[in-house]
Amino acid sequence: QDVPVKNSKEKPISPDLFGIFFEDINYAADGGLYAEMVQNRSFEYNPSDRKGWHSLTAWKYLAEDFAYGTLTVETSEPLNENNPHYTVLNIEDEGQGKGGLGLANSGFDGMVLKEGENYNFSVWSRLFSESAVPLRVELRDKEGKVYGHTTWTAESTDWKKYEARIAVTQSTDSAYLAVVAKGKGKIALDMVSLFPENTFKGRANGLRADLARVIADMRPAFVRFPGGCLVHGDGLENMYRWKNTIGPVEERVPQKNIWGYHQTAGLGYFEYFQFCEDIGAKPLPVLAAAVSCQNSGGTWRIGSIGQKAMPLEDMQDYIRDVLDLIEYANGPVTSTWGAKRAEAGHPQPFNLEYIGIGNEDKITPGFEERFKMIHDAIREKHPEIIVVGTSGPSHSGEDYEKGWEFAKRENVALVDEHYYEKPEWFWNNRERYDKYDRTVPADIYLGEFAAHDTDRKNTLRSALAEAAYMTHLERNGDIVRFSSYAPLFGRVGHTQWNPNLIYFTGDKVLRTVNYYVQQLFSVNRGDIYDPGLVSPSGRGKDKKAFVVSGVKDSETGDIIIKIVNGEEGELGADINLSGLDISKAEAECILLTGNPVAENTFEAPETVVPETRSLRVNETFTYPAPAHSLSVIRIKL
Ligand code: AHR
Repeated sequence: QDVPVKNSKEKPISPDLFGIFFEDINYAADGGLYAEMVQNRSFEYNPSDRKGWHSLTAWKYLAEDFAYGTLTVETSEPLNENNPHYTVLNIEDEGQGKGGLGLANSGFDGMVLKEGENYNFSVWSRLFSESAVPLRVELRDKEGKVYGHTTWTAESTDWKKYEARIAVTQSTDSAYLAVVAKGKGKIALDMVSLFPENTFKGRANGLRADLARVIADMRPAFVRFPGGCLVHGDGLENMYRWKNTIGPVEERVPQKNIWGYHQTAGLGYFEYFQFCEDIGAKPLPVLAAAVSCQNSGGTWRIGSIGQKAMPLEDMQDYIRDVLDLIEYANGPVTSTWGAKRAEAGHPQPFNLEYIGIGNEDKITPGFEERFKMIHDAIREKHPEIIVVGTSGPSHSGEDYEKGWEFAKRENVALVDEHYYEKPEWFWNNRERYDKYDRTVPADIYLGEFAAHDTDRKNTLRSALAEAAYMTHLERNGDIVRFSSYAPLFGRVGHTQWNPNLIYFTGDKVLRTVNYYVQQLFSVNRGDIYDPGLVSPSGRGKDKKAFVVSGVKDSETGDIIIKIVNGEEGELGADINLSGLDISKAEAECILLTGNPVAENTFEAPETVVPETRSLRVNETFTYPAPAHSLSVIRIKL
């Protein structure tokens, strides 16, 4: 790294040290960041997604004013083969007051509508009867109050897309979408969709603006996506295949999400790359190492652990897919996959630098063989791409050693480690990377970590343990290239995993205390670690839960000091600016403190939030760090 390190004590810090890990777990994508408001829009839910789910999950039959007829789900001559199910309304009588026959979608826990905003409705329909069928689309609440509407007449006997903008006049958080046929006839409907017009950056097929903003506010250096376990799936059938997630949304291949729900692939690789670009983060896609979730058993058993793996005869096609992803992201518009990126509206490359291969895979002979094939192919065809491998499912012990041995043998550039541990573990292990062998060429990506407090609550105590650990990531920023908290998002009422960094409902976003720690480190990163800038003072020297870190940002010239006090009482940190010109220095201190077991909640979202105050600095001075606090001091020289 080309960082102006001045003396032997200073160490360069990776510019990409703090980023995020986005996985579609806890409804993070469908029902979350992906702004689609209709749930099961293409009638593809089925019992393999979740027991009891079917084509009409989240839908209801509507027969108004004693209208009658049938609502069926059919599959012959569908919109396309990836989207086999659609619904058919056969309206025999539209009812006494022409109320009509139709269907209603409840969205994800009710639809949130905002007064004065527009919503983009679209649907594919196909007429089976001779006469055209007029339809009315309404956004209603349970009492039948209408918040916005549009009408159209289905006339085409071929599948045709209809689009309209619906203006909403009042706010509500519990609307549903009603699509009602107002005349006799028979029509098919598919891909019934509703998006807020106001998506993040106004993108079509875009992202929920509030959730995207909360990520953007962290200014992450990179985004790892789309998983986690989601990547390898729990069988080859739902291994994440990026090619299934690009192109027109109605042609994408939906599948069972390993976390027990349905994945539309509406938020796919194009949208991920675009989002990274929109927030100035580097994309870090992770692809399966052609094996599925550890020990999940199944058709193709390899090694002794019953891991499902891709048959070797399919590996060349799989490797082709991996190489094609690089072409999709970076290739010229004249290349096959670069042309597809251009078709989607992005002729410029996405500047992909990194690819992850594998996630927490058991290091078995079957894994090793497949990983090596993929890794060798990338290195041969794209030596410019940096591959991130995995240390396996454990972060210590024999399996972990095996993972590292393999990575070293194969010259893997970066190794992904994961750990979820108690807060004390983070305090006790904050020298982990100090001890790493610097002669090994492989660097570290701490791809998933979180301190799990009692009942898996997002307490200040857990956040401070993470902060303490992150000071040690800064100190080891020469070999730890990336790090990301996990998981990122949890939709209230739909979590498979706690704690998460950010919780949300249909219209509310909760930043946990842990979020503020990640954000404070990310927006206050430096590129040089300097151990001479700060040290514990007096009693602080002997305290277990007290750490400090001093970094420089060579672009702005700012000095940034972080102090984490996990002890019961105030402790001092000696700050040493001698040798620096502080005649014009201005400093501010951002403080995150409170009761160690306090959490932010939807009822009290500001229980523990950062507070900024100005600070007087001298060449040397002692900063009093309050009990249970993170202090981030930025000194502008
Ligand atoms: O972050 C949640 C899960 O934890 C990830 O999917 C997986 O990689 C890990 O086990």
